[in-house]
Amino acid sequence: MKSLLFCLLLAAPMVAHGQGPFLKDRYKFPIGASLNPRLLAENEAYHKVATSEFTSVTAENHMKMMLVHPEANRFDFSRGDEIVEFAQSTQKRVHGHTLVWHNQVPKWMNEFSGDTQAWENMLKNHIQTVAKHYKGQVAGWDVVNESFLDDGTLRPSIWSKNIPDYIAKSFQWAHEADPNAILFYNDYGQDGKPKKMQAILNLVKDLQARNIPIHGLGLQMHININAKNEEILSVINQSKATGLAIHFSELDIAVNPKNDSTFVYDETAIKAQQEKFELVFKSYQNLPKHQQYGITFWNVSDRDSWLRGYFKRPKEYPLLFDDTYTRKPIYSNLLN
Ligand code: XIL
Repeated sequence: MKSLLFCLLLAAPMVAHGQGPFLKDRYKFPIGASLNPRLLAENEAYHKVATSEFTSVTAENHMKMMLVHPEANRFDFSRGDEIVEFAQSTQKRVHGHTLVWHNQVPKWMNEFSGDTQAWENMLKNHIQTVAKHYKGQVAGWDVVNESFLDDGTLRPSIWSKNIPDYIAKSFQWAHEADPNAILFYNDYGQDGKPKKMQAILNLVKDLQARNIPIHGLGLQMHININAKNEEILSVINQSKATGLAIHFSELDIAVNPKNDSTFVYDETAIKAQQEKFELVFKSYQNLPKHQQYGITFWNVSDRDSWLRGYFKRPKEYPLLFDDTYTRKPIYSNLLN
């Protein structure tokens, strides 16, 4: 008996990461994370948690225009492929992100000049080369990302400026290249921005009326603890009413959105964040089964979050895993 206890004690630290029960088993829809191939290769804890916790994977950056298409006549799929290989070797689904966006555009595209036909050929070639490369390996694509401003107007970008009706064309081109892929329009910040939300709903109606394939809506869900529950729920309900697949595609819940340098992640902040995570999961679970494409977190642990790096917010803790890749208490709340 004594020696059995001793063995158990010894064994305990070895199973600290990757021990069940798991969220991915608790929920009937895919639970995903966006991943960074460098961290996968270099950080053992990251690799372990990514392997054991998730059933879906998105490339945080490495399928974006700037990374896969660095020069007009050169594609580089190496890093994106690493993510796909990781997913395949660990039996995970891959979600493609993203074919068309106004950000992370390579210099040569920003400097491109030509008439409408030349612009269309350029974008079509990009979309179709990438979608064909990953055909059969990704379940779906964020075809177009973040096309509308808060006031519901089309965002000024090289795409809206140079290609009339570029959203519809992009969906059509993506569908031609990979007819089995589930095609999403993906955007952020619809809560509290009814005009932006309406523009997205209008887009869906317009594409459907013209028989242009759109199958899903990605709600990025980069939210924070001050987000209004009614506004989040209203966005989810309006999205649900389209009947399309719904992906919470980039979930993180910021606790220090104003980047207060004296911020402390105390009980109050933790509790507020837990309530939001619970609301997000509960409302997702309430969607009809056939609309549940999954919930994807935007990276794995707090220390990997773009809110720390991109927004230079050192005191930010937006995810389920802390800086040591340990599950936070909210993890068990979501299990129950
Ligand atoms: C972010 C990445 O997380 C960062 O590493 C990168 O520097 C900028 O892009 N909406 C999106 C994502 O659709 O692609 C963005 O990802 C976050 C906002």
